Amino acid sequence: MSTPAPGAGSSQAGPPGEHHDLAELLAVAERAARAAGELVSRGRPARLEVLRTKSSTTDVVTAMDTASEELLVRLLRGARPGDGVLGEEGGASAGTSGVTWVVDPIDGTVNYLYGLPTYAVSVAAVLGDEDGAVRPETWTALVGCVHEPTSGRTWTAVRGGGAWLDGTPLAGPADVALGEALVGTGFGYTPRRRTAQARVLAGLVPQIRDVRRGGVASLDLCAVGTGWLDAYYERGLQPWDHAAGALVAAEAGAVVRGLSPQDRAGEAFALAAAPGLAAELGDLLEGLDPLAE
Ligand code: IPD
Repeated sequence: MSTPAPGAGSSQAGPPGEHHDLAELLAVAERAARAAGELVSRGRPARLEVLRTKSSTTDVVTAMDTASEELLVRLLRGARPGDGVLGEEGGASAGTSGVTWVVDPIDGTVNYLYGLPTYAVSVAAVLGDEDGAVRPETWTALVGCVHEPTSGRTWTAVRGGGAWLDGTPLAGPADVALGEALVGTGFGYTPRRRTAQARVLAGLVPQIRDVRRGGVASLDLCAVGTGWLDAYYERGLQPWDHAAGALVAAEAGAVVRGLSPQDRAGEAFALAAAPGLAAELGDLLEGLDPLAE
């Protein structure tokens, strides 16, 4: 059953002279995410093999990642033939409407490979640049849907309209002091990147309540929006990892930014937390030089 998104019906946004029906976009996103979620949860073979690897031997793709992305592309382009798609497994296909769907067919592929129940399908619609570029540093996220098939939980967000978990508006993160913060993070796939990330974490852990590493960036961002984590940060996220979850967190009231307060979230760095904590945690992280490798 589709999640109603209160307040989404009348919202419209777009470049001058062009409007996009955000309620329609959200309905399309949610239908596609739920269908792909059903495919990957029901269709997971008992013995799931690695199909290929990407940036390192531990950065894996399964046949279900590919099947899920194919289904997402078919559903999204079937519903909105003029839109582009940017998917984790398939690269980019340009559209004509200005809207691009940014999709992660299985966020948390390593969890999924091992049979851990925590993984998600992430679908966002964004407005790219006028030259056709689709980059987190400059795009305008319009709607997002993060669906966790095993629990059935579905987070939705509409630009300027709010964020919801299964139709209930999100409270947003509490603005706790750094020393009380439960902070989520993640790691890249190359040993060099992980060594740098471990160094930063070693400097952070003594300063906070504790750390969580769930293995699913989109769900980590939704957890911040829901108040299940006080903050989340990661270096090296790809557009599909954070497009929908970042909108959920932001619409729930979190600050979503890069390493410096003026930077947008992107591959270089992403940080989400309530405003005071974002400032405090951002300062601490900057001092730990997280971009040095
Ligand atoms: C990964 C997960 C993980 C994060 C990695 C991502 P994938 O996405 O979101 O939590 O730490 O940076 O690459 O590869 O499972 O789609």
